[in-house]
This record gives sequence, C-alpha cells and structure tokens, in this order.
Amino acid sequence: MSNRILVLYGSYRSDRMGIRLAQFLVDGLRGKGQEVELIDAQAVGLPMLDRMYKEYKPGEAPAAMAELAAKIRAADGFVFVTGEYNWGMQPGLKNLTDHFLEEWFWRPAAIASYSAGRLSGARAATAWHGTLSEMGMVVVSSTLAVGPIGQALSAEGKPTGDSGDALAQAFPRFADDLLWWVEAGREQRARKAPPY
Ligand SMILES: Cc1cc2nc3c(=O)[nH]c(=O)nc-3n(C[C@H](O)[C@H](O)[C@H](O)COP(=O)(O)O)c2cc1C
Repeated sequence: MSNRILVLYGSYRSDRMGIRLAQFLVDGLRGKGQEVELIDAQAVGLPMLDRMYKEYKPGEAPAAMAELAAKIRAADGFVFVTGEYNWGMQPGLKNLTDHFLEEWFWRPAAIASYSAGRLSGARAATAWHGTLSEMGMVVVSSTLAVGPIGQALSAEGKPTGDSGDALAQAFPRFADDLLWWVEAGREQRARKAPPY
C-alpha cells in the first residue's frame, strides 16, 4: 500500500546543494511505491515566525501556511533533509517546522543529513532528533549522513563516486525502517484515536 510521505528541505541559498539529497530521497521513496512530495521551504516561502498556524482564526492563515498544514496532517510520515550551518540547524527548515505543532503529531520522521565536509551534518542531525521528538514525531533510528555532498550526488540527485555508492547502499535500510513505522502508525491511528 502506498503511504503519503513528505520530504522536507530548507536551504534558501542560491547555490544550495542539499536539494540533491532531497531529490535522491524523493526518487528513492517513489521507487518503493510511495506517494512522495518535496516540501521546499524556500518555495513555500513562509515568513519568519510570527503566528503559528493554530494561532490564526479559522480561514485567516496565509494560503501557503494553510495548504502546508493540510499536507502535514494528511501525511503518514516525514523525512527531514538537514544541512548544517555552524554546527546547527538551517534556519529555513526550522522556521517552517515551527509554524506547526499538533499537525505533526503521531507520525514517524527520519533524518537525512549532509554537509560539504566528511562529518555530513551529523551535529545538525543530532539537534533535529530532539526537536522532532518534542514536536510529537517518533524519530526512527536509521539515519543517512552524506558528505561531502558535492562528491556524493550529481545535480540531478544521482549517486556518484564512492560516497554516492555508500549512500545508495544505506538507503534501503533507511527507507524500510521509516516505512515500517509509517505502516505501524497508520494502522494504530485507524485502530485507536490518538489520546490527545
Ligand atoms: C553559514 C554556513 C555555515 C556552515 N557551517 C557548516 C558546519 O558547521 N559544518 C559543516 O560541515 N559545513 C558547514 N557549512 C558548509 C555546508 O555544509 C555546505 O555549504 C552545504 O552545501 C550547505 O547546505 P545547502 O547548500 O543546502 O545550503 C556551512 C555553510 C554555510 C553557508
């Protein structure tokens, strides 16, 4: 059965590289028969956080925020694609994520990190783990860590060289882990309403 998966990415840089990993993940999950949508924070274009979605009166939230809220609520699982700026999260993705709270609840999330260096954004991935847990998602234990991203993926998101081979080899377990929890969560939500 096909699940609805959102792949979320949040660099606003003109020369951004992480879009390659986001594209690789979209392609890979579609290849596993999933219904996948890329949520590109730059394209969604939410403002710096003023009001969270739930703080607007019904019908008054900006259209892009309301549309995204509906997509998050309808999703069965999430992949957060995270780069690392000065050992921390990228603000564009964090800003998008913070606009919502209950919309994220009761679904699993997986983290795929990358960077220009060999540490592959691992410090940002660690920070995201706690944040996503706080926001009501179950973070799956399998992660992807890609670096140097420019050597691992082509502009079209196709694996290249040794780093690309390592990514292609790691992807099936990452996806299968996420999809197992996606299925478990979907069945549990159908069986029993979330407690709050
Ligand atoms: C402001 C800034 C801070 C960065 N800090 C780190 C860092 O702490 N660790 C790291 O491995 N790479 C760091 N880099 C390099 C990024 O990993 C690399 O530029 C990457 O492509 C950024 O993702 P993006 O291209 O999708 O924006 C930094 C880059 C920028 C622009």
